[in-house]
Amino acid sequence: MEKREELYKGKAKSVYTTDDPDRLILYFRNDTSAFDGKKTAQLDRKGMVNNKFNAYIMQKLEEAGIPTQMDRLLSDQESLVKRLDMVPVECVVRNISAGSICRRLGVQEGLDLNPPTFEFFLKNDDLGDPMINEYHIESFGWAKAEYIEVMKELTFKVNDVLKALFAEAGLLLVDYKLEFGIYKGRVVLGDEFTPDGCRLWDKDTREKLDKDRFRQGLGGVVEAYEAVGQRLGVNFD
Ligand code: C5P
Repeated sequence: MEKREELYKGKAKSVYTTDDPDRLILYFRNDTSAFDGKKTAQLDRKGMVNNKFNAYIMQKLEEAGIPTQMDRLLSDQESLVKRLDMVPVECVVRNISAGSICRRLGVQEGLDLNPPTFEFFLKNDDLGDPMINEYHIESFGWAKAEYIEVMKELTFKVNDVLKALFAEAGLLLVDYKLEFGIYKGRVVLGDEFTPDGCRLWDKDTREKLDKDRFRQGLGGVVEAYEAVGQRLGVNFD
């Protein structure tokens, strides 16, 4: 597999084309950012930890019947993935209130949400990723109605699979963000699933073990990500 030019540089990952038009390489950098890029840092080992964490979770999701873009790990910081036509929408499920929903709705952090709630956001840094609804997605042509339904179904299916997986490791899956793309006419989970894009709390102590450690300046960011991975059985060697 030959790595060619950089196609896209995100806040924590870079995407490269390859000699196969159907495959891309995701390069997990050590960069981290929060608050729409206003707070940034370089964290040693983060790229490796997130790359391996993501590969592990994507494999679990594939085993549960959720189509993902993951092909295989290529190196410590690189994964080979299918080239999707990305839908510019973020799908968020929340099992417990935290983060933006507390600010927007004036609710306290830590409320069990029953049933879990769902939100769509437009992926647009300049606009600060505004919340949108299904009508917006269809009216503006960001995705077809049938795809929107599948994205929602798959996002909830991921919740069933990962809530159980994290629970076995004594962790609460508070919330998470997913992104999807289209591959050969089918909705496929893209981007990543790592502690950068979800909230995970220790079940007993409610200690935060995700990117809120960086957002809130709690320290031990990569250490927490790695500890979560180890509790799940991810091999970081
Ligand atoms: O900020 P908010 O509370 O809406 O985030 C909900 C979940 O989605 C969190 O787990 C957060 O890390 C994730 N998220 C993300 N990328 C964004 C927005 C939110 O990974 N651009």
